[in-house]
Amino acid sequence: IKALMLMGFTALLLAGCGKENLTALVPKGYGADESMKLIILTTVIMGGVLLIVVILLAYVAIRFRRKKGQEDFIPKQVEGNHTLETIWTVIPVILVIIMAIPTTLVSFDLADASDKSDNINIDITGNQYWWHFNYQDEEIQTSQDLYIPVGEKVYLNMKSNDVIHSFWVPSISGKMDVNPENTNTMYIEAYEEGVYWGKCAELCGPSHSLMDFKVIVVSKEEYEKWVADMQNYDPEVEPESAVAQEGAELFEQNNCMGCHAIGSSPIEVGPNLTNFGNRTKIAGYLEPTKENLVDWLKDPETLKPGNLMTGKYPELNDDEAEKIAEYLLQMKVTDVTPESAGK
Ligand code: CUA
Repeated sequence: IKALMLMGFTALLLAGCGKENLTALVPKGYGADESMKLIILTTVIMGGVLLIVVILLAYVAIRFRRKKGQEDFIPKQVEGNHTLETIWTVIPVILVIIMAIPTTLVSFDLADASDKSDNINIDITGNQYWWHFNYQDEEIQTSQDLYIPVGEKVYLNMKSNDVIHSFWVPSISGKMDVNPENTNTMYIEAYEEGVYWGKCAELCGPSHSLMDFKVIVVSKEEYEKWVADMQNYDPEVEPESAVAQEGAELFEQNNCMGCHAIGSSPIEVGPNLTNFGNRTKIAGYLEPTKENLVDWLKDPETLKPGNLMTGKYPELNDDEAEKIAEYLLQMKVTDVTPESAGK
């Protein structure tokens, strides 16, 4: 019955997470695949241990239970048995070694950055509470949505700008701490196109749970198109609509550029806004609608407590916030979508 309940619960979990690609139990990438193998290995070993212990316990409880008329009977007492003690020490040690060897090998393999010269290299910076992505060789800066091609090794160099965060895309990769003092490396490789949910997995402040991001896995061709579009993006180009034009002026007057870059400028005090209109979410978790963006611009503190944008510019009225929102949402490159989109 317990096994059935566990299976039912797991199925529920899988059903709940499937749509958002936020589960380590349905691996869609190399790191997640290796993690899944380790999860199965440890579960089988631990399940085996549990089973043997429960069977022995049940046997002892039944075999030596106190019977009617034998209230004073005490079974033979054993103190010190070298053979038994050796067995129950050696077996667990062997089991731990069986689990430790593949775990260590996989951990070192995923962190191995020695043959990355021919591959895509991305510097990732964790910030309270957003992610910055700097594509070294392509000279592209973006934030929150990480675009990568399917079936290729992508090397990540991760560092934090403030406190310790942890980079985790459960369906594609394992977890890696993102520290302020040192750069941690990890490579990821996605097997299937799709939009994968990423989470910060280290408690980093009041909005830790909202520090979400996405990994958008597309075909090689789509990825190259995206790279070219991003490289050719002209931050000086004038917005088409008059409202967006006014928004651009307000953006400048409120000194938003002090923190936010558009284009390949390396400023990264706040998220890079180059392809803001393509973002899958606003502030990591809000649907990308104009209403949500207006709410965010007017009161970021309520939507993401502790974020650094709060108080950095004068309060905006509805009209101003709407104009800036209009300006930001029209900043787009051609949408590249995973093959699986709409499935
Ligand atoms: Cu960053 Cu939790």
